[in-house]
Amino acid sequence: MIDVLTRIKDQAQQDIAQALEFESLNQVRVGILGRKGEITQVLRGLKDLDGEQRIEVGRIANEIKGELEGLIEAKTQQLKAQELEMMLQSERIDITLPGRPVPTGSQHPISRVTDEIKTIFIGMGFTVAEGPEVEMDYYNFEALNVPRDHPARDMQDTFYITEDMLLRTHTSPVQVRTMENMAPRIPVKIIVPGRVYRKDDDATHSPMFHQVEGLLIDERITFANLKAMLMLLAREVFGADVKVRYRPSYFPFTEPSAEMDISCVNCGGEGCRVCKQTGWLEILGAGMVDPRVLEYGGYDPEKYTGLAFGMGIERIAMLKYKINDMRLLFDNDKRFLSQF
Ligand code: PHE
Repeated sequence: MIDVLTRIKDQAQQDIAQALEFESLNQVRVGILGRKGEITQVLRGLKDLDGEQRIEVGRIANEIKGELEGLIEAKTQQLKAQELEMMLQSERIDITLPGRPVPTGSQHPISRVTDEIKTIFIGMGFTVAEGPEVEMDYYNFEALNVPRDHPARDMQDTFYITEDMLLRTHTSPVQVRTMENMAPRIPVKIIVPGRVYRKDDDATHSPMFHQVEGLLIDERITFANLKAMLMLLAREVFGADVKVRYRPSYFPFTEPSAEMDISCVNCGGEGCRVCKQTGWLEILGAGMVDPRVLEYGGYDPEKYTGLAFGMGIERIAMLKYKINDMRLLFDNDKRFLSQF
């Protein structure tokens, strides 16, 4: 019996030493110490031996068992260390490699133009105001002197939430909201950038677009103030050589009303496809605030006058950067956007 144990031990020592990976080491372990392993069988056979022998063989078997367990554990640690060493060898990190560049974005043309216009008017003492995109019919139309059955509503048909609530068709409702908040303090001197919504959708119209509104209320504000400010705006945005002209127009909330054109940015006024051979491009609507609107806002039209203007940012961006389709501005194509 003792001989058998010694033979098992010698063989096992050899096998453990020769095992090159976890798999074969485990096989060795099962073969000796497993449920049907050689040592396990010897220990099970002990009950057939008589007293003295049973104690002797049992002691030696357990001794060998412990010894082999130790050897297997040591070998396991050795294999683990080898594996780690191999991983470190093959996955070595080259700290001298240059870092991966983080792509920097660029400013969207709409944001660029909006910021530029804001900067110009902030320079003239205006502050920036904002209002909700989901607007009350009252502020979008009623308080701007556009009653329910007024034909001017057709031109600005939009998306209604309820009968009294809609996606604003222009930034002009912020005129009245601001007046309500400020009255009777003067001057009211704000510009209002923001998103607006109409039902149009083609190469030069999008159902969502951006406007910047301007409002100045004070004593003795005249059309001359309006012209001076808008001239400065045109020159800053389109260059010192640009010419401007005003055409009489109609808005229910200004009186008199005008539209401002600039000389064509493409042909300089000769006439071309961009300006439809007229030499001029329309860029904004403006006028003197209608007395009714001043009243709605809480200002006495006998004491104060005001000027207001509103322009579409997409249109200005398209003219400034020579973009021929408005949809490019909303496609989020990086090849287009990275040009700005
Ligand atoms: N709100 C007008 C529009 O969207 C523009 C405008 C603003 C006209 C202010 C006059 C005064 O067409």
